[in-house]
Amino acid sequence: MGLLEGKTALVTGGGSGIGLASAVRLAAEGAHVFITGRRKTELDAAVEAIGSAATAVIGDISDLADLDRLYETIRSRGRGLDVLFANASVAEFVPLEQVTEEHFDTLFGINARGTLFTVQKALPLLNDGASVILNGSTNVDVGAEAFGVYAATKAATRSFARTWANELKGRGIRVNTVTPGPTDTPGLSGLAPDSEQAAGLRRHLATQVPLGRLGRPEEIAAAVAFLASEQSSFITGSSLYVDGGLNQI
Ligand SMILES: NC(=O)c1ccc[n+]([C@@H]2O[C@H](COP(=O)([O-])OP(=O)(O)OC[C@H]3O[C@@H](n4cnc5c(N)ncnc54)[C@H](OP(=O)(O)O)[C@@H]3O)[C@@H](O)[C@H]2O)c1
Repeated sequence: MGLLEGKTALVTGGGSGIGLASAVRLAAEGAHVFITGRRKTELDAAVEAIGSAATAVIGDISDLADLDRLYETIRSRGRGLDVLFANASVAEFVPLEQVTEEHFDTLFGINARGTLFTVQKALPLLNDGASVILNGSTNVDVGAEAFGVYAATKAATRSFARTWANELKGRGIRVNTVTPGPTDTPGLSGLAPDSEQAAGLRRHLATQVPLGRLGRPEEIAAAVAFLASEQSSFITGSSLYVDGGLNQI
């Protein structure tokens, strides 16, 4: 028996990286997993990898009509929602003096606003005892250069998790943040302008991590499965660091 037999889960940004690994893991634990994202090719490949335990709905979490369509699809399955992993985010290096309105609005529009409405619009579907997991970042605790707007969006996410844990406790709904350190994903490599610089970035980040390497998406997914399941039944409002010790020692 898996940890999530008979449960229904949603992973936003489930077509790649940490979201994909989490969708695979939640399905392996017995859940039916809905995934969403903007790119059809990635979602189709994810469904092919996971099989009949996955349903893809194309959409943008910053578009409220797309969220309505997503939740209508989940509602029509008739089993509510037991696990929501609000994972979709975007990141970009931009130093303070070069921050534009567009950069600010895009990152806050997806990472903070999109996450809020992803969770708000899920509320009528969430079953009592559901688990909501937000994807944070170790960057909330440090001042990494040129990452100020991204880090601020993740600080908002961390704050949301505390508030929502309080607001939803009456329904037995737990809300936590999973906080990955640098993890080897297309999103991480995409921070660099080309593949050579991406390899340099990955090498540099690995040297910063006490365990001496980047995280693997599957290692973040293991923490997501834990937070999603009854194994974490007394944990809410928390942030679970999966960072190879980066922010700990
Ligand atoms: N990798 C790391 O080192 C690291 C560290 C700390 C935290 N994180 C967090 O982990 C999460 C996943 O990142 P990742 O590294 O796995 O990056 P990734 O491979 O780029 O995955 C991000 C996913 O989010 C989706 N997405 C982005 N904007 C979206 C939108 N507006 N609507 C719907 N889906 C959207 C993307 O799909 P589409 O482009 O197709 O929409 C993509 O599938 C993010 O929250 C990130 O901040 C990552």
